[in-house]
Amino acid sequence: MLTSGGDSPGMNAAIRAVLRTALYNGVSVLGIYNGYQGMIEGLFKELQFSDVGNIIQRGGTILGSARSKDFLTFEGRKTAFENLKRQEVHELIVIGGDGSYKGAEKLMKEFGIRINCLPGTIDNDIYGTDATIGFDTALNTVVEAVDKIRDTASSHHRIFFVEVMGRHSGFIGLDSGIAVGAEMALIPEEITDVNEIIVYLKKIRGLKKSSIILVSEGDDAGGAIDIMNMVKSQLPDLEMRASVLGYMQRGGNPSAYDRILASRLGVQAVDDLLKNESGYAYGVSGNNILRIPLHDALYCANTIDRSKLKVIEILSHC
Ligand code: F6P
Repeated sequence: MLTSGGDSPGMNAAIRAVLRTALYNGVSVLGIYNGYQGMIEGLFKELQFSDVGNIIQRGGTILGSARSKDFLTFEGRKTAFENLKRQEVHELIVIGGDGSYKGAEKLMKEFGIRINCLPGTIDNDIYGTDATIGFDTALNTVVEAVDKIRDTASSHHRIFFVEVMGRHSGFIGLDSGIAVGAEMALIPEEITDVNEIIVYLKKIRGLKKSSIILVSEGDDAGGAIDIMNMVKSQLPDLEMRASVLGYMQRGGNPSAYDRILASRLGVQAVDDLLKNESGYAYGVSGNNILRIPLHDALYCANTIDRSKLKVIEILSHC
């Protein structure tokens, strides 16, 4: 098994579930270090039961991760496959985001490796699951951080532009926007009109002590600092600050939800692989485990729920 792409809280819980399910069934597991790059470099180690002891609560990934450029080339993947063959590996569990899923699909198609994938990313931008492993923890991290920023915002009567992760998707911005009671959430899926922000801030002037505007890092109008500067140039007398939350959103102890999700999906993905059922991506719908063909997980769009934008609009209206 390997973890790949951006790390996410709960990846360790998934690693633990995968290894222990395999051992429970009398099957040994090689850990591949540093994602697909480690597969190319031959960084394999047989994992023991105790290797995954005391990790369910830890953020990051004990296997390490990478975004491998070499694996994007056929030569890189061929080297990786030869390493797998040498180790007599025919089956793989991949834990990661959409880039990792793409790599898995290539290995399946080009070399016939049997693979099941678990959704490990804070971005929640994978089709076929309500939540990815790490999303809930990242949301809670954002909420905790913005609650603290709110203290200063309301004490100083300031408008804060807070930048959250999501280079291509607004799931974190949208859900945390509701949870922190943000005045606005700017997300990559919607075109941002800076004038609308200005009109809104003029309207609420004197009515609200403070405002929080969440900005997803991939917003088309720019990052939190850019947008704040544009707004400030039109409303110079209002006090504004920007805060970029950055990589703190990817770390930390996984929430109970993420540990449970990772454990359940890990057990299911291995159970299926042992029954020769492969080529699936795993997820949840409500409390039910879902599995969908990897191809669908990759090529169906996981769209944001626009009604959530309306919730923010209604609740920040005055
Ligand atoms: O994969 C999650 C994510 O945090 C994105 O939201 C962000 O754009 C990206 O990773 C940045 O990751 P890196 O700097 O590791 O490439």
